[in-house]
Amino acid sequence: MCYAIPGRIISIKGRVATIDYFGEKRTASVIGDLKARAGDYVYAQGGIIIDKINQDEALAILGTWKERFFELKKKDMDTLTRGRAEGEIASVLEKAENGGFLSRSEMETILKTQDSGLETLFGTANHIRSSELGNSCCVHGILEFSNYCKNECAYCGINKNNTKIKRYRMTIDEIVERVGYAVEELGFKALVLQSGEDDYYTDDMLIELVKRIRERYGVLLFLSIGERSFDSYKRLYEAGAYGALLRFETSNPKLYTLMRPGKKLDDRIGLIKKLIAHGFVVATGFIIGLPGTTEADLINDILLTKSLKPDMYSFGPLIPHPDTQIGKMKTKPVSLNLALKTIALSRFVDPKAKILVTTALETLEKQGKRKGLLAGGNSLMINLTPEQYKGKYDIYPGKTQDQLFDESNNGPLVASADQLDIKTQDTIRETLDLLYSLGRAPTDLGR
Ligand code: 5AD
Repeated sequence: MCYAIPGRIISIKGRVATIDYFGEKRTASVIGDLKARAGDYVYAQGGIIIDKINQDEALAILGTWKERFFELKKKDMDTLTRGRAEGEIASVLEKAENGGFLSRSEMETILKTQDSGLETLFGTANHIRSSELGNSCCVHGILEFSNYCKNECAYCGINKNNTKIKRYRMTIDEIVERVGYAVEELGFKALVLQSGEDDYYTDDMLIELVKRIRERYGVLLFLSIGERSFDSYKRLYEAGAYGALLRFETSNPKLYTLMRPGKKLDDRIGLIKKLIAHGFVVATGFIIGLPGTTEADLINDILLTKSLKPDMYSFGPLIPHPDTQIGKMKTKPVSLNLALKTIALSRFVDPKAKILVTTALETLEKQGKRKGLLAGGNSLMINLTPEQYKGKYDIYPGKTQDQLFDESNNGPLVASADQLDIKTQDTIRETLDLLYSLGRAPTDLGR
């Protein structure tokens, strides 16, 4: 299984390498103490060279990929249908497709599109995705290692006041072992390590974790551990965690503090900016449909994401959780179409962006992931949390439809590793089938 294809470095200037993939050229940075030179075969993720690979192995992998690579490209072209929109939306879409700068009122027109206009809207975004970035779709794994959280976010099911959920923490050994499995057995080249804001894991513990992983595995690690001091993040970067996933949640400062008691949007944005300036590969974004948000807020959310120049957009619809303040407020659920329109509009505003199709889309509708990929999305995550913990990382309901064990099973599991992982492997297979059916290659070629 392969979630990244090796490329050959054709030249290096300073720390920036130009890499060839079957004739397509992309750039990626050489980071840390990796020694890379022209002629080397490497894996790159998120614009960073994360591993070298010997030539024989690389040529063998490329040999098996070559035919499929071009087959998939052709198939992707076949998905580029768009129908024909009428009226105002037609001219806005034409402008977007020609790379025009959309005004706020044109963005509102996009968010208001309904019925027959939607097909053309999503189709246009898909077209731009294909022409700007080709058919590569990065597939990251995510490992949720602790559901303890010291925060009281009004939307999040693992907020500290939720006494109904069973809390868990994975040990450092368990995390390293699971990462090893994800990299060596499942073939992942980029992994997100996510938790609530859990001070049980000191900086030193996390640094040890990152070092142990990086000593063994060529994988791009993203930390999604919430707010820690910039100093802590810097030390974690030095240890080898080059990625961070940190959403700003909403661009509206008042709403931010309402949703996240005791917290300020400025602090969050300040940290995200520092991480990006330091060289972290950052994924950031927002929640669609927090209470009281308007179309203008949503446009601000997209524009703020763009202005941060992240490596990846990560946003998703609010799924009200019954054991949160929002869950008790009867907030209107977000429609799948609004989430898809947000993907499409982000694609227009930032044509070369990597836009994640979040699992929350699938919670809204079984076809959500597929539709997201056809509305401008080009990135996916697969949950690799061990089955005994998966159901407990309950940030929103329905997140873990693929739970293998019922809620009453809280003790350690005695089933064999193979049995435990049937679900994960099924999800991987389904995801790959979906990607192949749409002509997408599960690789991150970068820019
Ligand atoms: N619905 C949708 N997204 C949520 N998140 C947390 N709770 C919810 C919810 N109820 C998102 C937040 C957080 C990320 C890990 O999950 O954006 O940053």
